[in-house]
Amino acid sequence: MRGLRGRDYVSVTDFSPTELWRVLELSRDLKLRAYGGERVIPVLSGKTLMLVFQKPSTRTRVSFEVAMKQLGGFTVTANWTELQLGRGETIADTARTLSRYVDGIAARVFSHRDLVELAEHAAVPVINALSDLEHPVQALADFFTIWEKKGRVSGVKVAFLGDGADNVAHSLMLMAASLGARMVVATAKGYWPSQKILEAAEERARLTGAEIEVTEDVERAVRGADVVYTDVWVSMGQEAEVERRMRDLSPYRVTREIMSMAKPDAIFMHCLPAKRGYEVVDEVIDGPQSVVWDQAENRLHTQKALLMLLL
Ligand code: CP
Ligand code: NVA
Repeated sequence: MRGLRGRDYVSVTDFSPTELWRVLELSRDLKLRAYGGERVIPVLSGKTLMLVFQKPSTRTRVSFEVAMKQLGGFTVTANWTELQLGRGETIADTARTLSRYVDGIAARVFSHRDLVELAEHAAVPVINALSDLEHPVQALADFFTIWEKKGRVSGVKVAFLGDGADNVAHSLMLMAASLGARMVVATAKGYWPSQKILEAAEERARLTGAEIEVTEDVERAVRGADVVYTDVWVSMGQEAEVERRMRDLSPYRVTREIMSMAKPDAIFMHCLPAKRGYEVVDEVIDGPQSVVWDQAENRLHTQKALLMLLL
């Protein structure tokens, strides 16, 4: 295993399964220490993380800012359009400039290709804070939560219901494949995961014994599941497709009846923000099986671990 220092985390596949476990194990230590009263561990004293957003964010923005400050560092946060990027300065020139000021860049973008370009030209680590293709920091918190709640990851069955081509679903598939879990995505025709992501997940699954499947059949996905996961049907940037998406994906709504098909001790997960009444009903997201607030909290612990290792 190469060290993680100086590396990018643009896709889950940027890290080997062993490296992903290293982040999860450090997250566990940091969470324990935080609950023991040691929230501030100034190992990144004097270092700066730049956060750049092309889209709104609550959890990602706040958890990264708090994480960096709890590690003794600083943050600079800006919207894409308020930087010269908004006036046409190239991504490459921006990457070169920012690398002279900061020690790491986390960016939330529309196009995954822009993030890859940023990473190519930056001399400092670049972290994907969500793109149209992936949400790899979310998947770290998600599998950390599954590990925490289920005591294991290997062999755990995760059912994802909704948009199969969703960024969160893509990163979850890659993470499930990397960590030896079983993941079944239930989605409508026309919403299948990206072929590139499926192939990458299958390649990893062959090494770890994970199983990745895509189906239109909700019951096939949920029956015997340990985790039922969903995300919005209309992601940021897809607003023009609202009607079509609402119509096509409505059979994949997580209701109490759907939860009753899963294992009795199954947990409900959602990356948030949720569109209540659409992909999930109130009685599930607010119900006893829901772990969404722990999941949101875990963004902080897992990103502290990630920053500690990369910066
Ligand atoms: N889950 C997530 O990334 O939330 P935000 O869009 O609020 O950052
Ligand atoms: N799929 C959602 C995730 C938000 C955290 C989106 O991209 O809008």
